[in-house]
Amino acid sequence: MSKKSSNRKNWKSATLAIHGMGRTPKAYYSVSTPIVQTSNYYFDSTAEVLEFMKAKSEGRVVREHEYGRYGNPTQQECERKLEAIEGAERAVLFSTGMSAVIITLLAYMRRNGHIIFTNDCYRQTRDFATSLLSEFGIEVSLVDPTAKVIAEAIQPNTNIIFTESPTNPYLRVLDIPAIVKVAKQHRIMTIIDATLATPHNIKPLELGVDIVIHSATKYLGGHNDLLAGVTLGKHNLLNNLYRMQRMIGATPGPFTCFLLERGLKSFALRMEHHNRAGMSIAHMLESHPKIEKIWYPGLESHPDHRIAIQQMRGFGSVITFLLKGGDKETRKFIDSLELFLITPSLGGSESLVTQMSTMSFFDYPEDYRRSIGMVDNLVRIALGLEDVDDLTADLKQALDKI
Ligand SMILES: Cc1ncc(COP(=O)(O)O)c(C=O)c1O
Repeated sequence: MSKKSSNRKNWKSATLAIHGMGRTPKAYYSVSTPIVQTSNYYFDSTAEVLEFMKAKSEGRVVREHEYGRYGNPTQQECERKLEAIEGAERAVLFSTGMSAVIITLLAYMRRNGHIIFTNDCYRQTRDFATSLLSEFGIEVSLVDPTAKVIAEAIQPNTNIIFTESPTNPYLRVLDIPAIVKVAKQHRIMTIIDATLATPHNIKPLELGVDIVIHSATKYLGGHNDLLAGVTLGKHNLLNNLYRMQRMIGATPGPFTCFLLERGLKSFALRMEHHNRAGMSIAHMLESHPKIEKIWYPGLESHPDHRIAIQQMRGFGSVITFLLKGGDKETRKFIDSLELFLITPSLGGSESLVTQMSTMSFFDYPEDYRRSIGMVDNLVRIALGLEDVDDLTADLKQALDKI
């Protein structure tokens, strides 16, 4: 804000998502951030170029923009707001969640190093870890998502612990302070993909984690209409990553950033709805006779419920469950749903449903697929912003059909 507010530090995420930590000047006094649809930014004279280059080499900023791969004004505005919501010094925005995950790992992995991942994690992250990292000479361990097992997996060459929390799809919640404690003892960097929690429900940096990643495609964007990712952390720590991002250029375009910034304005409101809907529908499913088992961190039956209630403000709207029956019954249930669209992803306005074995893990050999829990009757739903009573009725009528 142009007038300094003494109360700024106390602003809550609903306010921060709209204003960031204060007001920045905008072209034409526009309220929303204009989309600057250009690939490059011109200079008025060679003298201006020289001044710009000199300032840059001295670490001073005389003007922000030079070339589109290095960023655009709408991106900068999104980053400013994401930093504020997360409580981070710096955010680096990427074109997808996966480019955030992979470029962040590339920036901090070390030759002959060892990285610990949890074995329940997003499929593409798992594939990058197991099939590509080893080709770069990086050792990888995929371990159960508990602080104890992670601590036991530490080797002398471990330099990164990469976790999700909650994990995807089993929604395991990690004891972050315990992992941070052991990581600090061994000078290991901690990176957490907190896409399923969002900064509304958990603040990993406050718990001592070094770097947080989100697929902004999900709750942050919130409308199933964009792809983006973000990495957040301390300013100096992200220098390497920023350099790499400028080289590789997985930069989100101006229109994507406009949509993301627009999505952020309703982020806190949407998260409150997601948390309420998740809790209500998880309770309904847990007591339904056609459900064999359910995973939702807000339920007492979840293996990490005690950790979740200590760390999380709400539990989101992703619910994973086993139906009673096999492939036939599961497909009948999914095909009978009227409001849930059959597609992966989560965190948007439309409710989505996935049979994990066919949608996300189909190309894995069947034995391996089963060994990692991707059985035919495993279903993941991601509730959208529809009325909770309508979603409840839709799930019940589809369960009645099997
Ligand atoms: C936990 C998690 N991390 C990362 C990603 C990748 O994000 P994106 O699809 O934006 O690349 C996903 C996508 O589903 C995810 O669920």
